[in-house]
Amino acid sequence: MKVAVVGATGMVGEVMLKVLEERNFPISELLLVASERSVGKKLTYKNEEYTVIGLADAVAAQPDIAIFSAGGETSLEWAPKFAEVGTTVIDNSSAWRMDPTKKLVVPEINASALTVEDKIIANPNCSTIQMVLALDPLHKKYQMKRVVVSTYQSVSGTGVKAVQQMENEAAGIEGEMAYPYPINRNALPHCDVFLENGYTKEEMKLAREPQKILDDRSFSVTATAVRIPTAGGHSESVNVEFHNDFDLAEVRQLLSETPGIVVQDNPETNTYPMPVFANGKDDVFVGRLRRDETQPNTLNMWIVADNLRKGAATNAVQIAEYLVENSLVSNTSEAIS
Ligand SMILES: NC(=O)c1ccc[n+]([C@@H]2O[C@H](COP(=O)([O-])OP(=O)(O)OC[C@H]3O[C@@H](n4cnc5c(N)ncnc54)[C@H](OP(=O)(O)O)[C@@H]3O)[C@@H](O)[C@H]2O)c1
Repeated sequence: MKVAVVGATGMVGEVMLKVLEERNFPISELLLVASERSVGKKLTYKNEEYTVIGLADAVAAQPDIAIFSAGGETSLEWAPKFAEVGTTVIDNSSAWRMDPTKKLVVPEINASALTVEDKIIANPNCSTIQMVLALDPLHKKYQMKRVVVSTYQSVSGTGVKAVQQMENEAAGIEGEMAYPYPINRNALPHCDVFLENGYTKEEMKLAREPQKILDDRSFSVTATAVRIPTAGGHSESVNVEFHNDFDLAEVRQLLSETPGIVVQDNPETNTYPMPVFANGKDDVFVGRLRRDETQPNTLNMWIVADNLRKGAATNAVQIAEYLVENSLVSNTSEAIS
């Protein structure tokens, strides 16, 4: 595959290269793409040095797959240009997620919906991916009615500038601010921009994306998204009300049998998911499984995952792997037919 990584110099881009390398994705030619600011910069992949190129040059090279992690505006403008030359775009921004003509994919759940016609495929929001992966097997078994989620999100979810802000503040250095307030020793109930309904865009992604991924509008999600000074991953407190009653041991069993999920749940040994542990790992960690004692058929759980891995790069590479394995990239299908 001729693969373009758009946003290669960013937080997600860096992890994307690591994940492609670790999983030995079949790359015959690699194009590393970023803004004009970075053109000419050198990056390393599999011990080889690559020069960063601009978007127009990348389109001209007609890659088979382009994995975008360069913000919504870049994606809105450039993803269609790649699609026009036959490239399949996997996009990490929110630009296409709720577009009814685009698939929103968590491979473990709905990769089978992908076809060779899908030229722009959306990767869900990082907080959504980890939550929906845990909700999916439980929804199938007990049928969800309502989800209440509060997030504790890592600064790495905002990008390079935010991590720098936290590090500067911790070191007592004045520098550029990614947030309107200090983040070190703080908690900001403010992820992404505020919308007219008083929720943030991040909260509405958590409310809307699960219904599209699970292809089911029979349940509702309400969210509060909070940024905290961690860097290793996003954490979520999730309260789920089901239509049907559940057995806690069966819930634990269902989750531990779900690919991509690791159950860490033993109060006796202080075992529960944490960002310091999830950092750098591809799995989604679930623990603190408890019945909500205030109402029937309701479960509390705590979900943690590395937002740069399963929340972004790993999920995107898994989509790319599925496309290649199932000959859903135009060039492969041409080669095969
Ligand atoms: N961080 C996460 O956990 C996470 C999770 C899921 C999805 N995402 C999404 O992934 C995207 C990137 O996030 P990030 O955290 O990696 O941000 P970041 O660290 O700020 O990196 C942004 C990347 O986009 C490139 N870029 C910016 N403007 C561009 C333009 N006009 N043309 C070409 N490239 C441009 C940057 O290139 P330069 O270095 O040249 O500026 C850089 O490579 C965003 O859409 C974000 O919503 C992030």
